[in-house]
Amino acid sequence: MADMTIGTILFTEEQIQKRAEELGAQITKDYQGEELVLIGTLKGAILWMADLMKRIDLDTEIDFIVASSYGKNTTTSGIVKISKDVELDLEGKHVLIVEDIVDSGVTLKRLTEYFAERKAKSVKVCSLLDKPSRRITDIKPDYLGFEVEDLFIIGYGLDFDQKYRNLPYISYLES
Ligand code: IMP
Ligand code: MG
Repeated sequence: MADMTIGTILFTEEQIQKRAEELGAQITKDYQGEELVLIGTLKGAILWMADLMKRIDLDTEIDFIVASSYGKNTTTSGIVKISKDVELDLEGKHVLIVEDIVDSGVTLKRLTEYFAERKAKSVKVCSLLDKPSRRITDIKPDYLGFEVEDLFIIGYGLDFDQKYRNLPYISYLES
């Protein structure tokens, strides 16, 4: 992975903001009169979470979880480890998981089950990106920013080996 370079821009900051605005409006409408707990998946979802939450006009609480099905490799291990858990009581609450990208779907499937086990009233997902060609589970985001091809995506929170998270746009790595 030594000769990796940043590819072209797939989505600009403006395009991402526009999707946050559209999805925020949709979520506001769908959960009208209800309270919502937004749970961001660290670290990848931080920028998307920040953009999205500003556009949701409901009573909300936020929390974060650190879960990984990845090591340093770009292939999934199939095992989900939770290294930082949600602190809020989720019983009877509507939960919206705010994710950076759905790849195999292993992480999201496990998190969805986990929040259901914690007696959430409902569990849905809003993901910035979706890579459906790589899916090995039956999970699908309820709200989606953009679909991407089978590329290794970086930027706007997404990393390769902890780098590139600060890029203000979405790109990919090419060799
Ligand atoms: P999954 O469990 O295979 O769906 O993996 C989901 C997690 O893997 C995402 O939340 C990301 O943190 C990471 N991931 C998957 N694909 C990419 C990618 O293309 N670039 C960066 N991180 C990725
Ligand atoms: Mg993630």
